[in-house]
Amino acid sequence: MDLTIDVNIPQIESSSYPIFINDETIAKLKETLDEKTQGKKRLVIFSQKVYKLYGKILNFDKKEIFILKDGENQKTLKNFQKIIEKAISLQLSRKDVIIAIGGGVVGDMSGFVASSYMRGIEYIQVPTTLLACVDSSVGGKTAIDMPNGKNYVGAFYQPSAVYINTNFLKTLDEKQYKSGFGEVIKYAFIEKSCNCSENYNLLEYLQTNKENYEKREDEFLCKIIEICLNLKASVVSQDEKEAGLRKILNLGHTFGHAIEEITKYKRYTHGYGVVQGLMYIFNYALNNGFCDKKYYDKAFTLMNIYGYHPDKFCFINKKKVMQLMKTDKKSDSTTLTLIVPSQEKVVVEHKIDKTQELTFSVNYQN
Ligand code: GLY
Repeated sequence: MDLTIDVNIPQIESSSYPIFINDETIAKLKETLDEKTQGKKRLVIFSQKVYKLYGKILNFDKKEIFILKDGENQKTLKNFQKIIEKAISLQLSRKDVIIAIGGGVVGDMSGFVASSYMRGIEYIQVPTTLLACVDSSVGGKTAIDMPNGKNYVGAFYQPSAVYINTNFLKTLDEKQYKSGFGEVIKYAFIEKSCNCSENYNLLEYLQTNKENYEKREDEFLCKIIEICLNLKASVVSQDEKEAGLRKILNLGHTFGHAIEEITKYKRYTHGYGVVQGLMYIFNYALNNGFCDKKYYDKAFTLMNIYGYHPDKFCFINKKKVMQLMKTDKKSDSTTLTLIVPSQEKVVVEHKIDKTQELTFSVNYQN
């Protein structure tokens, strides 16, 4: 399997880049990276976990490497400064390159460093988690966190290329793998709203492929990554900076982020938070007449097939979730924008007054 997807962003000159998806050996990936960066100085930012597993085979010069510990709590200003200092010590110039090898944390941090070091240098994404493969490594959202919120400081800054190798996904622990799948499920519910020329029927494909998911079968992995990224590329090429359409990628995220924050990024990984967010928003959609019970049931059945069950999430304090949602950076001083499922695979934007009580129940109707 060897696929290439092009992301074209017409709004910015020279902001088109390829995403390569394959299952070649990691040693071959290293050769490709060496070829592509020949003649340039490099700063390679590794996730600690990935470095332990693949550091030897990827065999970069130790001097080029910065290892970032794993976890959302590493996306700090302090680590940002350390990495900038490393770039300075390597005497990186604007002609050089940063390579990010890891999950969303490494990708977000590396992209933000690349966007600001000398007002911007090239960076390459090598996502190693399912979540980073299907979402965060593509689209140019880069950021670090602040005490008052996740991704509070950042930039839209596109990579020059993304190299996805499904071998990395074989060594993910079950929790990480399942977390990434939360974002895959999200795409199933927004497919028609992405305005993509292809009709993938991701929802139906997922309904019948649980076994391949469990086996982490290469063809299955390449296919779901290809579908998700084609959908994402379609959205980002129409709206890079989230002025409109790109907001649909946040389905489930407003509740999801709030839930992650309440549990201090410890209890739930991002993808788990997103699936919980999907359950809340489907509930909201049903209670407020956006979607019918048939679609609601279909959505819950899919989430249940993949082992996500709402009964585990019911304890979360509804008032606190609402309070946090209202301070979400996607809301302004008076309104909160929710992305809400309506018809099958279609979502709509719904603005609500912040003073209004949200109507959703935490006792899901299954
Ligand atoms: N993860 C959502 C986006 O890239 O817009």
